[in-house]
Amino acid sequence: MKIDVVTLFPEFFPGPLATGLVGKALAAGRAAVQTIDPRHFTHDRHRTVDDTPYGGGGGMVMKPEPVMAAVAAARAQGAGPAVLLSPQGRPLAQRDFERWAAGTHLILVAGRYEGYDERIRTRCDEEISIGDFVLTGGEYAALVIIDGVIRLLPGTLGNKDCPEQDSFADGLLEYPHYTRPVVYEGDPVPEVLQSGHHQRLTEWRHAQALLRTRARRPDLLKRRGLTPSEAAILATAGSPPRLVAMPAALIGPGVLAVAAAYGVPAVFAVASGADDRRELEARLANLPAATCPVREGPRSRKHRRAPPATVADDLGARVRVLEDWASLPTRWDGRPVVRWAAERRPPLDAVFVDPGAALAAAGTEPAPVPCVVIGAPADRVDGYLPVIRGAVPENRLPVASVVGIYLDRIQGEG
Ligand SMILES: C[S@@+](CC[C@H](N)C(=O)[O-])C[C@H]1O[C@@H](n2cnc3c(N)ncnc32)[C@H](O)[C@@H]1O
Repeated sequence: MKIDVVTLFPEFFPGPLATGLVGKALAAGRAAVQTIDPRHFTHDRHRTVDDTPYGGGGGMVMKPEPVMAAVAAARAQGAGPAVLLSPQGRPLAQRDFERWAAGTHLILVAGRYEGYDERIRTRCDEEISIGDFVLTGGEYAALVIIDGVIRLLPGTLGNKDCPEQDSFADGLLEYPHYTRPVVYEGDPVPEVLQSGHHQRLTEWRHAQALLRTRARRPDLLKRRGLTPSEAAILATAGSPPRLVAMPAALIGPGVLAVAAAYGVPAVFAVASGADDRRELEARLANLPAATCPVREGPRSRKHRRAPPATVADDLGARVRVLEDWASLPTRWDGRPVVRWAAERRPPLDAVFVDPGAALAAAGTEPAPVPCVVIGAPADRVDGYLPVIRGAVPENRLPVASVVGIYLDRIQGEG
């Protein structure tokens, strides 16, 4: 495999490329990296590779002639694609490494300054970004790609390291790893890993990969899809909890039935005084049986013998009365709570959240617990859920429907 890097800073590469598995692969001749400096293709005394932008503005722009001459020199070395490295490119993914590693030649074009003259962009074969951030130069991105590609070349990894099991290879994040000691600061290695039972181990790892991907990167799961048995694994493991909060006056049988249907463990009722609280208690005491969702419980003998729980027990039990919005908990079950407002008319300066993206971006372990909040002051919420499609001002949805729609949307992301 031959990798040509078009760069104004050839001295950037030898150090990092001499280390670790990549250093060994290069030393063994599995791949060769060559730098090509556009300055060598200039014809003026100052070896000019950049110029001021037309129309003004700060920064310098890389000139097309020297950069494209360097790319042409690289193209003469092989048939690989010329990949322009740029924050505006398509996001880099593992499948790109796989694709490039399957070829024999790759050209990486590293920018500097304000970036490239647009005519360079249209003359390269691909444009790739390594993330939604801006670096000072494309050399960092080139190193990332060189590592990811060389790692996949036959012989780079030892026999025991299997790239097919790593994150993304199967569209999932990898399962968790443990090594000795068995117990670290009271935190034990899961029993299944010590059992030596191969099938259980394989099933556990697959389930963990699914759960981890759902919690951290629901977008990957959406793109990849699930087999029926994987969907069953996730359904059995249950979704991360969702909470609901609203003024006590809004809480009725409909809201509670919806909360029950989505397995919401707590509905917070903000009662603004003793009267509010008494009215809520009266409503909870009179929950009509018709609102009970179909009970689906384990069909154990014990369960069959138990007297059916009353509807009021089922639905009202999840209500937690709060004195004010400041008392809304910030943690639930050891996880941080994110409060997302569901409003028909959010304030003009509302910041909207994309629930799936926000949960994934939170990146916290354990993942945060979303709480659908209705009727809270703006300073008590962390963001606004996008207004429900079709909920035009005249078309006021019942509060239970609002709660159901948002819980479903958040659930769908999970
Ligand atoms: C300061 S950046 C130019 C950014 C450019 N003005 C823009 O806003 O798109 C200089 C060079 O660093 C490289 N670079 C910066 N961020 C990158 C990223 N996220 N992915 C790939 N290359 C990046 C590119 O080669 C880019 O031409």
